[in-house]
Amino acid sequence: MPSYTFPKDFLWGASTSSYQIEGALDADGRGPCIWDTFAAAGKIVDGSTAAVACDHYHRWPEDIALMKEAGFNAYRFSIAWPRIIPTGTGPVNRQGLDFYDRLVDGLLEAGIRPMACLYHWDLPQPLEDRGGWQGREVIGPFAEYARVVTKRLADRVKDWMMLNEPNVVAIFGYGVGEHAPGHKLGEQGILRALHHQNLAQGAALRAIAAEHRGLTLGTVINLQPCRPDTDRAADVAAAARWDAVWNRVPLDGLLRGRIPPLLADRMKDFVLPGDEEAIRYPIDLLGINYYSRMTMKYEAGHPFDVGWGDARCERWTGMAWPVQPDGLYDLLVEFKEHYGNPAVFIAENGAAYDDQPVNGKVHDAERVAFLRDHLESVARALADGCNVRGYLCWSLLDNFEWAFGLSKRFGIVRVDYDTLKRTPKDSYKFFSKVVKSGKL
Ligand code: FCB
Repeated sequence: MPSYTFPKDFLWGASTSSYQIEGALDADGRGPCIWDTFAAAGKIVDGSTAAVACDHYHRWPEDIALMKEAGFNAYRFSIAWPRIIPTGTGPVNRQGLDFYDRLVDGLLEAGIRPMACLYHWDLPQPLEDRGGWQGREVIGPFAEYARVVTKRLADRVKDWMMLNEPNVVAIFGYGVGEHAPGHKLGEQGILRALHHQNLAQGAALRAIAAEHRGLTLGTVINLQPCRPDTDRAADVAAAARWDAVWNRVPLDGLLRGRIPPLLADRMKDFVLPGDEEAIRYPIDLLGINYYSRMTMKYEAGHPFDVGWGDARCERWTGMAWPVQPDGLYDLLVEFKEHYGNPAVFIAENGAAYDDQPVNGKVHDAERVAFLRDHLESVARALADGCNVRGYLCWSLLDNFEWAFGLSKRFGIVRVDYDTLKRTPKDSYKFFSKVVKSGKL
């Protein structure tokens, strides 16, 4: 394999999210969120909950030490909306802000750049009760929450990401019901949830920019190149529809202020005059999450008449996701060509495997190979002029993997859920070596 050198100021680190690692769901005035309700309704496949998760709420100093030890200079975490404004609108909970204040100071002390994400899926339940992302009532409260959080932390946190993966929220949460809040509203539910997140994002970006200068503002989108299963016209059209829903509604909305023409008719009942300007914003940095390509085919009976095709892949992760590192290279190059090469960073990339600890060690050779191959794609994209500023793996710790609960392990550090002991895996050591040397 050829060797690669990454830029000197490259951002290196990991991503996590509040609900997946913090635990302490009843601590210090936190309010309920949609994932608490979803879990209580028995929707988590292994019957687990996030009540303790990694107990990061209490063990964050240990987790920062792990990152420092690995040589990381950046860390993307999310702020739990229900800790800050427990009822979604109304009183601010100071204790919630205090927690992130301590975390941020700890990160800065360790020389790690805190990159905060405002919404990684823990919508306060009272807002869902008022329609959640199906309507416009969430927009104002989200912008207000953004204002409250940045007022407290923007003196020290310079990087602000608004949303995490609005496409996944819309499709899995409101379209097919596999994620909280569990609605099966099909196409209209998906498109409404996407559009209202776009609007909330635009409002939050403007609310923050009105009060602060010199911040790096952005958002995080899960981009996956969509390929047709065959060259039959029906499959080609299905892949194009899915690309429009998955990639273009979030991207074109934000970067171009444009509803994809393919979907305009389906969105006409809820896109109002002025919306396209309101969702467009000249962000400073886009977070890209990449896991795999999507191979799609025509299949009636699903939203947008799209079903999964055959990825024709030899390697699969423990989520049964195909391992396609070249898809990351393709995506970065296509993004550069389509959108004029704005600054991006890889905000998530990683894999779950069924790790088995042996004598207190985790030899996760498949995850090492996964990371190595994807880092190579990033290095190739950099060599071809893509404006990539950093790479954060998913994830620092094994954690609560949404509807899969504690059954899927994505960490480069193992968490023993009985003792909460952290054990760095071989992948942590491999990644740390790349980070410290800046070389692959
Ligand atoms: C992404 C999510 C993240 C994690 C990974 C595996 O879709 O942003 O929280 O669950 O997938």
